[in-house]
Amino acid sequence: MDNNNACVVVGGHSAELKLRSSTIGPSVLDIGSLYEQTKMFTYDPGFTSTASCESSITFIDGDEGVLLHRGYPIEQLAEHGDFLEVCYLLLYGELPTAAQKKDFDYRVVHHTMVHEQMSRFFTGFRRDAHPMAVMCGCVGALSAFYHDSTDITDPHQRMVASLRMIAKMPTLAAMAYKYHIGQPFVYPKNDLDYASNFLRMCFAVPCEEYVVNPVLARAMDRIFILHADHEQNASTSTVRLAGSSGANPFACVAAGIACLWGPAHGGANEAALNMLTEIGTVDRIPEYIARAKDKNDPFRLMGFGHRVYKNYDPRAKIMQKTTHEVLGELGIKDDPLLDIAIELERIALTDDYFIEKKLYPNVDFYSGITLKALGFPTTMFTVLFALARTVGWIAQWNEMIEDPEQRIGRPRQLYTGEPQREYVPVSKR
Ligand code: SDX
Repeated sequence: MDNNNACVVVGGHSAELKLRSSTIGPSVLDIGSLYEQTKMFTYDPGFTSTASCESSITFIDGDEGVLLHRGYPIEQLAEHGDFLEVCYLLLYGELPTAAQKKDFDYRVVHHTMVHEQMSRFFTGFRRDAHPMAVMCGCVGALSAFYHDSTDITDPHQRMVASLRMIAKMPTLAAMAYKYHIGQPFVYPKNDLDYASNFLRMCFAVPCEEYVVNPVLARAMDRIFILHADHEQNASTSTVRLAGSSGANPFACVAAGIACLWGPAHGGANEAALNMLTEIGTVDRIPEYIARAKDKNDPFRLMGFGHRVYKNYDPRAKIMQKTTHEVLGELGIKDDPLLDIAIELERIALTDDYFIEKKLYPNVDFYSGITLKALGFPTTMFTVLFALARTVGWIAQWNEMIEDPEQRIGRPRQLYTGEPQREYVPVSKR
């Protein structure tokens, strides 16, 4: 192996493979010609050592607990920026000037309404349908309303679809919540910022004026920033794979929502709060730590561990700080679930099992406590994750479409089934 090439000798074949260098982080071995040269595939079912694409949007250093969006640390974006500014950064690659930000905010705000027919779509669901099931259906259905922005080969239509997705997700999420609790839908208001508009669409009722609490709106906006994008996670990879076939962006985001729903991924915020509620008291924590360590018990500490972070998830630290801000603003002096979370974290981080396996709290560990305090039911937690992650999915989808190397994603397999055999008539079986 030299700086640019590697030679792999396997099964009597040798393959010359190119090395491709990164800006920061691991370089890659381009194995695109491996099969052609060796008639062998690589095998990496969880993609633990596989780069699926080249990207310049988000960088994660799992060992150091670093998360950069277009080179800017998440801590600085969460502290100084707002969510639409981060959306602009993820989509266009640079922080906006004041004029660009004003124009972008205006364009997003003027796409927040959904077609009035969409409201009838909701009435097809049971009231107790999980809001993520509703979101899968309704976001996919957007394709049926916006035929003027589904031609993915047209950069203008791609950008219109991108803005529509970012703008309409809060409206659809709020509608899913209102339908779930049997209250009337609340239309967006163009004079409110993104997070304030969302909180009002969720919590306003026709019988009285809703006054947005700026501290809570800022916390909501920061939670959106923390969930905006995260490199090639499962749901983003789903959106990229769906998009590689030429599917329209609304259908691709619906596929991402479906994947995010899983408890190993975005569904962990709902599962983590349910776990803290089930633990119930601090003195029951050792019982659950033991279960998490028991190989024969499928139980895992929800909100702990990560495929990439083998250090503290930087988002979890910011989320914990936001939790204290929200509880303080709401005058919640002692939240038993927070007490359990803090004690569970303390015990886990001193336990050899968690230390050896490098299991730390991830973004989902504290978010549920904050979202519950803001007034959301646990069933809405992953919907909020999907709302925020839509910009990441859309930015990665656009990058994939614009990638000259982009082809339909079509992995191969290690076949261990039956070799060819002859059909046996039923009379002889
Ligand atoms: C998100 O990819 C992303 O970037 C995702 C995300 C994003 O922003 O898009 O960051 C959002 O999905 C965060 C993760 C949320 N999920 C959870 O909190 C669910 C609980 N965590 C785990 O299920 C698990 O940690 C994963 C799914 C997050 C990561 O799984 P991996 O990388 O496949 O790790 P693994 O399952 O191979 O675990 C390694 C070892 C195993 O033990 P051994 O088989 O080696 O003996 O650690 C153990 C696991 O049993 N382990 C845990 C554990 N997580 C891993 N043991 C107890 N509790 C846990 N939470």
